[in-house]
Amino acid sequence: MCEVEETERSSHLGTKEHWEEAYSSELRNFEEDEDDVGDVWFGRQCLKRVVEALKRRWDDPMSRSEVSVLDLGTGNGVTLVELRKAGFKKLSGIDYVSSSIDLANAILVKEFGIDHGTHLCCMDFMNESDFTTLENVPFDVCFDKGTYDAIRLNPDCCAQKTPKIYAQNVKKMLKPAGILVLTSCNWTEAELVSHFIDELERIDTVTHPSMSFGGATGSTCTTVIFKVL
Ligand SMILES: C[S@@+](CC[C@H](N)C(=O)[O-])C[C@H]1O[C@@H](n2cnc3c(N)ncnc32)[C@H](O)[C@@H]1O
Repeated sequence: MCEVEETERSSHLGTKEHWEEAYSSELRNFEEDEDDVGDVWFGRQCLKRVVEALKRRWDDPMSRSEVSVLDLGTGNGVTLVELRKAGFKKLSGIDYVSSSIDLANAILVKEFGIDHGTHLCCMDFMNESDFTTLENVPFDVCFDKGTYDAIRLNPDCCAQKTPKIYAQNVKKMLKPAGILVLTSCNWTEAELVSHFIDELERIDTVTHPSMSFGGATGSTCTTVIFKVL
């Protein structure tokens, strides 16, 4: 029996049905207009800041091209496009929605041609039995923008077990010195650190612009970089 925290709220954004509808529609839109790539979660500027932070960790372009990155819940794959443009070449993306994988592939083909070299895989990150379908494990980097948020919004999410399963699965995907780069708009840095306390350790934070409202100041989103414990 899972005790759900009082603050825990589920939403249709946490259901697979929602994402199936969203990416089927975005795929149709992209097929009609190749400039319409759909939603870039938390905006292009946020993605740019996080990619820049990753570039600073591997500032030599040669070493960067050897870093393997897995984009968890890739959606339209725009993160993979930006990582590739930044010089990361060993790229993989997963999503549990097949239309997301089709959309990400179509966008990568448009940007880099049919031999774009990015491995895409339709799999549920929370279901370990799916992991055998993924190639190139283990990775240097797991990249998550909005996917942990979506997983936590699932009506079946358990506030105690789900973060642990997520972090354990991240560990299974990473090399011993690997890192998780996690961007969230639903959790603060302190909350994320506490969710993964037994499995992952915070090593860095990417700063996003803050805004003030009603006397309180906060960031629109949070990016925390973790290493494996
Ligand atoms: C908020 S969207 C973010 C998409 C993309 N990362 C971005 O930044 O634009 C959340 C993504 O996570 C995917 N997702 C949610 N739960 C998942 C799971 N258990 N396994 C794999 N993908 C999942 C959804 O299909 C969706 O593409």
